[in-house]
Amino acid sequence: VNEVIECERILADKLQSNVLTVEQIGNHVAQSGGKRLRPLLVSLGARCISNDYDPKRIHNIGACVEMIHMATLIHDDVIDGAPTRRGRPTPHQVWGTTEAILTGDVLLAKAMEILAADGDLDIIRSISSAVVDLAEGEVRELETRGNFDLPETEHLNILQRKTATFMACCCMAGAIVAGAKPELRHALWSYGNSLGMAFQIADDLLDFLGDDAKTGKVRATDFRDGCATLPLILLRNELAEDESTFVRNKFGNGMHDSDLETISKWMEEKGAFAKSRSAAAAYAQSSLDALDAVPDSQAKKLLASLAEFVVQREA
Ligand code: IPE
Ligand code: IPE
Ligand code: MG
Ligand code: MG
Repeated sequence: VNEVIECERILADKLQSNVLTVEQIGNHVAQSGGKRLRPLLVSLGARCISNDYDPKRIHNIGACVEMIHMATLIHDDVIDGAPTRRGRPTPHQVWGTTEAILTGDVLLAKAMEILAADGDLDIIRSISSAVVDLAEGEVRELETRGNFDLPETEHLNILQRKTATFMACCCMAGAIVAGAKPELRHALWSYGNSLGMAFQIADDLLDFLGDDAKTGKVRATDFRDGCATLPLILLRNELAEDESTFVRNKFGNGMHDSDLETISKWMEEKGAFAKSRSAAAAYAQSSLDALDAVPDSQAKKLLASLAEFVVQREA
């Protein structure tokens, strides 16, 4: 917990800018909440390897990964046309799209500055390639917009790139700072990777089932945007022809809340939600399996409990 507080202080410090818009958007996003899951992964990734590491490095890298996360959220909300995040209006709504995009770029560049100052080449390599994956994953997802028949493997590949790789890197970066040998670095990477898959599948379930007041996001943004996620992919084959035509016509096409209720009801009745939950649970289990290679500690217990948290969370 101390780690997170210190990381928060560094984040606030690094977000300062003498360019007003950058400073305002940075503060807006940082102060509107967020789980700070990625800095936590960096910190626990280190602590489950050893207690003998430089905490300052962990705080800096934690601030760095949260800044990358903030930048990708700002960009993601432009891409998805999302009106709210963390219960507040999104930066592009308040400051304008160009301003939001450019500020996201500033935050990414600032994050790279922190990595350069830390100087560990393995960490620089893995985080920079995770950012490439993340950005390409977002572009790939955009390319698939409107494709009602998106194959499940394609979809999972997108989740891998846009979410899982980065979480894997957060865990591994912590482990590297704590001096982990290659085998343990790999174990932490696998843990984070499966955790990320479970996390994103749960996120996509929340898009249909979540309470806006808790998620801080608008329900069914994915479906309205024509973004096929697991609940839809697993529903497709269970629909009768007229039902299928109905869902296909609404997909990416704007719909009334009553249509959303109809589609959600089918997802429930035809087992698409249940199957999605099982998929998330299976990834959560893989993340636990990856921890087998890690020596027992309090930090490892916390990582294990995170695997449970990500699939049960409501926000
Ligand atoms: C949202 O991430 C983006 C996804 C990868 C689904 P989080 O749910 O971790 O966002 P915050 O930081 O807690 O708001
Ligand atoms: C995750 O995708 C976004 C990133 C990895 C940046 P989503 O578009 O599903 O995330 P939310 O639902 O907007 O948080
Ligand atoms: Mg989004
Ligand atoms: Mg998105």
